[in-house]
Amino acid sequence: MKFDRFSPIGIFDSGVGGLSVLQHIRQTLPHEALLYFADSGFAPYGDKAESVIIERSLAVADYLIAHHIKALVVACNTATAAAIKVLRQRYPDLILIGMEPGLKPAALHSHSKIVGVLATQATVLSEKFLLLRAQLETARGVQFIPQACTGLVDQIEKGELASAATLALVRRYVAPLLAQGADTLVLGCTHYPFVAHLIRQVCADCGQPNTQLIDTGAAVALHLQRLLTQAQLLRPAITPAPPPSLRATTTGSASSLQQALLRLLKIGDCEVLALAAVA
Ligand code: DGL
Repeated sequence: MKFDRFSPIGIFDSGVGGLSVLQHIRQTLPHEALLYFADSGFAPYGDKAESVIIERSLAVADYLIAHHIKALVVACNTATAAAIKVLRQRYPDLILIGMEPGLKPAALHSHSKIVGVLATQATVLSEKFLLLRAQLETARGVQFIPQACTGLVDQIEKGELASAATLALVRRYVAPLLAQGADTLVLGCTHYPFVAHLIRQVCADCGQPNTQLIDTGAAVALHLQRLLTQAQLLRPAITPAPPPSLRATTTGSASSLQQALLRLLKIGDCEVLALAAVA
């Protein structure tokens, strides 16, 4: 592994979801160069077998490491649950940060002590999630209600952030959690912050407009900042900050990712490389 303070930070997800994390990283670390990888040719991960998710995560991580990244952010709860252990074994010296559904902050916020967890099927069935859930339920006296939101990632990948079909899907998953007494909802998939407005709308329609939504993107950006500082790998700050440098790679269509960057983050000048395959 060859990198220095000027090397990029690698960030990956099955698709555009990791952009919700990338936006926090850009805010927290405006001087850093970022290399985003959307594995859209293989999205969604959430309905795939664990072995497939591990294989994809290793292939993408290998690609990013071959591009001399100084840190890797697995901006995907599903990939983290399946593959973070294997990634740490393969790259023991790399700064490596995963995403985990925010059960801990949710347990602290919730007054009703009933928390809904919106995530992919693979995440809610993973050993990592089941273990964390059991630990916190015992330690904090909280009840977590996991809800696999099948189909929601596809809607977000298609750019359907405000359609009637997406709203109906959100309602189908969120309303039963509210009916069971949840006052806090964990966004346990990095795609979901892009439909937070629909989740809030459903909460309001159900008479619970004060429902808390928990997203861990900002916490991950701060954690990354801490680890880069400790390792003396922060890119030196120049005043005024240079325009943030961002490159992206996808196993899907370059123009779709370009449109998503514009739609979701208002970024219109990102160089996007489409790869036929990464294996
Ligand atoms: N964005 C991903 C996550 O945080 C997964 C989406 C998927 O590919 O199913 O879990």
